Amino acid sequence: MFNVEDIRKDFPILSRQVNGKPLVYFDNAATSQTPQQVIDVIVDYYSNYNANIHRGVHALSQEATDKYEQARHIIQKHFNARFAHEIIFTSGTTHSINLVANGFSSILNKGDEIIVSALEHHSNIVPWQMLCERTGAILKVIPMNQEGELIMSEYDKLISNNTKLVFVNHISNALGTINPIEYIIEKAHQVGAAVLIDGAQACPHLKPDVQALDVDFYVASAHKMCGPTGEGMLYGKEAWLKKLPPYQGGGEMIAEVTFEKTTYAELPHKFEAGTPNICGGIAFGAAIDYMNAIGFDAISKYEHELLEYATQKLLEIEGLKIYGTSKNKTSVISFNLKGIHPYDVGTILDKMGIAVRTGHHCAQPIMDYYKIPGTVRASFAFYNTKTEIDSLVAAVKKARLMLS
Ligand code: ALA
Repeated sequence: MFNVEDIRKDFPILSRQVNGKPLVYFDNAATSQTPQQVIDVIVDYYSNYNANIHRGVHALSQEATDKYEQARHIIQKHFNARFAHEIIFTSGTTHSINLVANGFSSILNKGDEIIVSALEHHSNIVPWQMLCERTGAILKVIPMNQEGELIMSEYDKLISNNTKLVFVNHISNALGTINPIEYIIEKAHQVGAAVLIDGAQACPHLKPDVQALDVDFYVASAHKMCGPTGEGMLYGKEAWLKKLPPYQGGGEMIAEVTFEKTTYAELPHKFEAGTPNICGGIAFGAAIDYMNAIGFDAISKYEHELLEYATQKLLEIEGLKIYGTSKNKTSVISFNLKGIHPYDVGTILDKMGIAVRTGHHCAQPIMDYYKIPGTVRASFAFYNTKTEIDSLVAAVKKARLMLS
């Protein structure tokens, strides 16, 4: 049974005070909090078996290697990848996207087309722009509407035999819109284009099945789903990962090195040069286990209740406008108060112990579309409560009075 008060006890940080007030943490889309179960795994690693992996015959190295590879299997199972070697450990979503973008430098030709969407985070725009500069490929953008949804009829017009790659986020970090990725993938495959889905904002809320989606690449970060920062993953279909060249050269990604020629290691090691974030990978596995024990159905159902409750309460405030009003959205509310800069609202909320993100949320094209400098973004997780939302609503009302 889902019991939020019991769940909250797992998160030590939730009982601290900020500026003399109980912390209300509503910046989950930026990073989630860490349960004691994951903190324990991190402490255990450094207390008991800290060692480099895949390199030593000694017991600690073996133990660390086993735990690290077990984590890869947990991630494989969670995302329903066919093989464990289709899961590449990275430092996070940004690293994963750059790895793929770099790989396509040697595949794309001048005039090839890449499609991204108007709802992307900068990390799913800039690497492709850099790829276009290197290859002469052309970037096209699926436009959005006032609700913050992608316009699929425009996507249909953009897709052609020139399309080689399509990159879209599963859920918008700035607005919370859930994109129709099944349709996007199917359409792209009809013209033989590869698809990368940025799942950074989706994985805290739902459980993607990469085989059912038939997606070519899917990327995520551990720190958005109760794990540590500096850790993430790239899922790639085996055939694609074999085709792409290595991203970085170094130790552990080689089969044999001479000064004349180097051959590369098999997957997944070909893409994992250098000593990885070993503890981070193991803790990522623990975080996924923790979230699965609660259950993604229960998580998304509860978060949806929070979303509906907060939307209704916030809209009662005079002059408050919500950006991103798709029916198909997750627990993110981006809003502004008429005539008041989001940064000022965020500063006052912080004084009341409420953590939100303010600004463009690394998604400037969305802000340009709405002709605003940014928004106040409250993003809820399964450990938040309606009482906390009441505190937010009261604080926003107070901020409005102070700043009007
Ligand atoms: N991408 C993170 C956010 O949306 C940092 O806040």
